[in-house]
Amino acid sequence: MRLLSVRLIISLIVGITLVSLAFSYYEVRSEKRGLTRDLERRAEVLAESLAGNIEPHLAKGSQKELQRIVERFGNRQHLDGVAIYNQKGAPIAVTTGLAHRLPDQPVVVAQAVSKGQGGGQFVHLDHSYVHIYAWPLHQQDQIVGALAIVHDASYIKAQTIQIWRESFLRDLVLVLLISSITLLIVRWSIVGPIAKAAQWMKALRTGKGSVTAAVPDIDLLRPLAREVETFARSLSAARSAAEKEAQLRDAAESNWTAERLSVHVRNRLAESRLFVVSNREPYSHTRRGRSLEVVVPPSGLVTALEPILRACDGTWVAHGSGDADQETVDKHDSLRVPPEDPRYTLRRVWLSKQEEEGYYFGFANEGLWPLCHVAHVRPLFRASDWEHYLHVNQKFADAVLEEMAGTEHPFLLAQDYHFALLPRMIKKKRPDARIAIFWHIPWANPEKFSICPWQRQLVDGLLGADLVGFHIHSDCNNFLQTVDRTLESRIDWDHFAVEREDHRTIVKPFPISVAFDEIQGDGVGKESIYTEKTALLRELGVNTLFLGVGVDRVDYTKGIQERFRAIERLLEKYPDYLGKFTFVQIGAPSRTHIKRYHDLLGEVEAEADRINWRFQTGKWRPIIFLNRQHSHKEIQRFYRTADLCMVTSLHDGMNLVAKEFLAAREDEQGVLVLSQFTGAARELRDALIVNPYDVEQVADAIRFALEMEPDDRQNRMQRMRKVVKENNVYRWAGNLITELSEIRVEKPGHSEANGNRVASAI
Ligand code: G6P
Repeated sequence: MRLLSVRLIISLIVGITLVSLAFSYYEVRSEKRGLTRDLERRAEVLAESLAGNIEPHLAKGSQKELQRIVERFGNRQHLDGVAIYNQKGAPIAVTTGLAHRLPDQPVVVAQAVSKGQGGGQFVHLDHSYVHIYAWPLHQQDQIVGALAIVHDASYIKAQTIQIWRESFLRDLVLVLLISSITLLIVRWSIVGPIAKAAQWMKALRTGKGSVTAAVPDIDLLRPLAREVETFARSLSAARSAAEKEAQLRDAAESNWTAERLSVHVRNRLAESRLFVVSNREPYSHTRRGRSLEVVVPPSGLVTALEPILRACDGTWVAHGSGDADQETVDKHDSLRVPPEDPRYTLRRVWLSKQEEEGYYFGFANEGLWPLCHVAHVRPLFRASDWEHYLHVNQKFADAVLEEMAGTEHPFLLAQDYHFALLPRMIKKKRPDARIAIFWHIPWANPEKFSICPWQRQLVDGLLGADLVGFHIHSDCNNFLQTVDRTLESRIDWDHFAVEREDHRTIVKPFPISVAFDEIQGDGVGKESIYTEKTALLRELGVNTLFLGVGVDRVDYTKGIQERFRAIERLLEKYPDYLGKFTFVQIGAPSRTHIKRYHDLLGEVEAEADRINWRFQTGKWRPIIFLNRQHSHKEIQRFYRTADLCMVTSLHDGMNLVAKEFLAAREDEQGVLVLSQFTGAARELRDALIVNPYDVEQVADAIRFALEMEPDDRQNRMQRMRKVVKENNVYRWAGNLITELSEIRVEKPGHSEANGNRVASAI
């Protein structure tokens, strides 16, 4: 840094000096030019007027008079004297004191006599510097001699030197000032912040600092700081991953981590590439005034799939639903994400209002969603919605095919009930592709499914995939029974597979999960959890002893009203809890464009109001309904501090809230009340499993949870955390990829289009 300062100062001194010298030179030159011009003008005026006086006396030959005239001009300011010359250039009269110094015939005098023109010249006379101006003298239009005006010009030289001296002093002061100011600026804005940043980075490198600690304020270097921050995060993640791997090896465990998944996916993909298609995109852009905001949807699907895409730089095709999505894509409708650390490609597909209405709101969410969930809401099947569903599936399939062009044996992970027809559409064109579709919601039993007028097409579309995944076994069973009843095919019950028209589809459960280690509570101790709970309750403006939490999209399958009724029943049955138990329901508005969802929001609100009105006193309320989207971080505070978490879905494929709650409870406290109708209930046997429709039972479960012995509570929590830790989302993704990579597919180019469907193992 010292060397840098010296170099900087020397460069500054040299630079400023050169620039100042150039300016001074220019200043001196123009000053000199001005003074000379002024002197010449004065000499010319004087010469002209003197000539008028001299010429008559010259004609008379009056030497005495001529000498008198030249003597008269001997003592004026800067005037050294005057000399009169005859036609031959010999002096006739010269001011005393000048006579012996003047050259015999100055050049300008000779020129004045010969050319009849006035002119000046600077010459050195003895030790002085003078200016001689010669003017022709006439008689009857004949040149008869010349007059020379001699000015002392040494003042011009003196003035020039003075200017140089002043410039030098000024430059010196300037150099000193600018150098000192620059040094100070460098010290304040660069050296200081760099030193701080270096300390911060050193702390990170040596493991003494936390990446979450604020980046020091390094001012001008902010863009660099941002990069360093990302770099530090990657470093810290790599370090903790390595540590985790070492611990795992040490414990001879086989836990899955993001890094293990990365290696696994890359090995399994080999030369191939991975594609994902889902309706919901992992990042959407919205406009807030003049700036763009990146929104990550609260979706388990995104959490589950992102690590795979990151691991192998895959391509994710999804609906571009953000109002600024079009502004952020390139000419192929793609962009690199995550925005702060691009690792894979997001290809957006655009839908018109009508397409979205028919395919997403209509067929997917008013038809298939209630069809697959036992929640007593009638599915609506409109022919126009079906047409849109078909058309949009084709639109997404075309986008996927476009992205796959040039890749041999691509892997495709299609997601959910929005794309039942897409696997067949892709398989037709790309029999060499390995296609899996994961159905994130339950599958209805064959009787219920048969009410769908397009059940054959849906099942056939799904069987275009090589692998169909569900969360649990009973969904696989329901699916196979539905296939059995609707289509001509052979069901291989031993291996859970369907054979139809020379194509085999494996049907398997893959219970989805969460990234357990990433949801840990930042090492928060019991002490700080107590502080955090107090702060949270203060922010909520409520006084209570026990805190319960529920986190859901406001959806009729989630059993939110049933939950509220159970809380009401608890307070009726066990009035000791009046003033002591508050339940916070975080409800993210969802699909509100659909009337049933829109109405539900109002109904949930009204139910909370009704119960609150009945019981609330002073600063206590039994229910707080927070009706807005909450960030992951905000939700974590509730998970960490709640005494119990309620998941009372009427029907749910898996429910990741239950698993997120467990992952967040590093303190091994808190109780999970879990509906028996969730996929999660199959794995989490230590939760208090309830029938959400049984209000008495749920009320008792809440009381049981609040009064549970601490040891029992801790043991249950420990066991459930172990289940989720071992069966995390990386294992889910790893298993899915393993299964898919072991499937036999056709060689590239053997598509139905060219009539060749010979399967060969690769
Ligand atoms: C369920 C579905 C997902 C969907 C999510 C949110 O979990 O299985 O596919 O993304 O709900 O619903 P939304 O309609 O907002 O995408």
